[in-house]
Amino acid sequence: MASPPPSTAPARLVVLVSGSGTNLQALLDAIGDDPEHYGAQVVAVGADRDGTGGLERAERAGLPTFVCRLGAYASRPEWDAALTAAVAEHRPDLVVSAGFMKIVGKDFLAGFGGRIVNTHPALLPSFPGAHGVRDALAYGVKVTGCTVHFVDDGVDTGPIIAQGVVEVTEEDTAEGEAALHERIKEVERNLLVEAVGRLARDGYRIEGRKVHLGHVGE
Ligand code: GAR
Repeated sequence: MASPPPSTAPARLVVLVSGSGTNLQALLDAIGDDPEHYGAQVVAVGADRDGTGGLERAERAGLPTFVCRLGAYASRPEWDAALTAAVAEHRPDLVVSAGFMKIVGKDFLAGFGGRIVNTHPALLPSFPGAHGVRDALAYGVKVTGCTVHFVDDGVDTGPIIAQGVVEVTEEDTAEGEAALHERIKEVERNLLVEAVGRLARDGYRIEGRKVHLGHVGE
């Protein structure tokens, strides 16, 4: 599967958030007032809940926002269809799931498959799911980190774009999950900014499990 060839216009990003939105902020800061230079611009921010830090950051940046709460729909497929429609309205080249704590469904994958980037706070394929940091700590690993990957129909199983490593120290106790997560997020924000920028500027090709950057048209 190949991405569309990069055009001169910055790629359109729709960013999905559930939490404090520091990864979104890192993207906004990297883009600054020169989306041409970065190669992408955030055109809208969506969330699965109201009143999150991520939405506030988007509003402060003057971006359109939308909220699709799972509880507002009769079924998960209906929620998925509504989320798909809300994202599609903004005609994204890439959808970035930046701390979005929901698994997307069939409609969403049909609409944006191969163009959805997720960031996860562990070294996949180890410790997928909602508690990557906690699970890695509990397992007793000596290194963990973060993974930026394409989303497929599994839970954190899609082709890997980039990974960053963070050492786990003796001080990282089970109670210290938040501190370890903060250290991971410091690495993660740079990784995400770098990965999304490269996808947008250079194009990419997905072959099986392999993601090749900058090989469009070959
Ligand atoms: C990030 O660490 C991201 O990897 C994680 O949520 C955090 C969001 O931080 N996502 C997951 O755990 C998804 N399974 P942020 O709201 O400050 O960007």
